[in-house]
Amino acid sequence: MKTIWITGGSSGIGLATAKKFSKEKWRVIISSSNEIKLDNAIRILKNYTENKEIYSIKCNIANRNEVHNTVTKIENNIAPINLALLNAAAYSPNKSQEFDIKNYEKLIDVNIKGTLYCIEILEKFMKIRKNEHIAIVSSPVGYRGLPTAGAYGLTKAGLINLAESLYFDLKKSFIKISVINPGFIDSESTKMNTFPMPFIKSADFAANNIYNGLTKSYKFEIYFPKFFLLMMKIGRMLPYRIYFYLIKRITGL
Ligand SMILES: NC(=O)c1ccc[n+]([C@@H]2O[C@H](COP(=O)([O-])OP(=O)(O)OC[C@H]3O[C@@H](n4cnc5c(N)ncnc54)[C@H](OP(=O)(O)O)[C@@H]3O)[C@@H](O)[C@H]2O)c1
Repeated sequence: MKTIWITGGSSGIGLATAKKFSKEKWRVIISSSNEIKLDNAIRILKNYTENKEIYSIKCNIANRNEVHNTVTKIENNIAPINLALLNAAAYSPNKSQEFDIKNYEKLIDVNIKGTLYCIEILEKFMKIRKNEHIAIVSSPVGYRGLPTAGAYGLTKAGLINLAESLYFDLKKSFIKISVINPGFIDSESTKMNTFPMPFIKSADFAANNIYNGLTKSYKFEIYFPKFFLLMMKIGRMLPYRIYFYLIKRITGL
């Protein structure tokens, strides 16, 4: 039985992916920062599947000691982690377009530093075994700058860049790296959005794509839904003048 650790497994994409992997007979450990949400998620998971190998551990990824203790506890007391899905993230769109340093600091602490703390300790355990896998959930918001998305987009752009860099560096430790870029997915986070979300899909749709992308042949980037992401990828290649013009026309901002 293979083991997956999912950060941010208490809701949305993380919980749906935990359900999918548990159904496919993986040992699943979910973690998140809120114990009440985590207890609720584990109840949902246990009602969903006969799989007994389901665990939860409270872990605020912004706390380096907590992350190190969590991974050490999983590795020593449950099972070696074969696949880590670094999915946890904070989200808060800056609707007023004011420069809010507190928002930047919060999102950098959770999304960037939190993900780095996970990789730091996972690498120590995984490099001894070889052929384990770390998947970082980023977002196409990280492809290019978008209005109101300064803080969140900065963290997601950073994670894409980080994954590209680690693709080379962690090869030496025989650790595979993937980056996952979902389009709009219905979740607690996207419920905060007041703008139209084209091609929005369910968390189960995301979970199926993540499962297939991570368990079939190795892919560096897993992205979905395909059509929307292909449009975002074209946007990534446009010269600034055309890109800024189009985004202004589309968003009115
Ligand atoms: N939904 C979309 O359209 C979309 C699109 C592209 C990318 N994504 C990415 O997909 C991932 C999942 O997002 P989602 O849409 O499923 O949102 P969500 O339902 O709000 O899930 C976010 C998860 O992260 C956890 N979390 C937040 N802060 C944490 C912290 N400090 N430590 C540990 N866990 C923490 C939350 O649990 P607690 O509150 O219990 O800590 C929750 O389980 C994120 O990385 C997001 O950026 C989402």
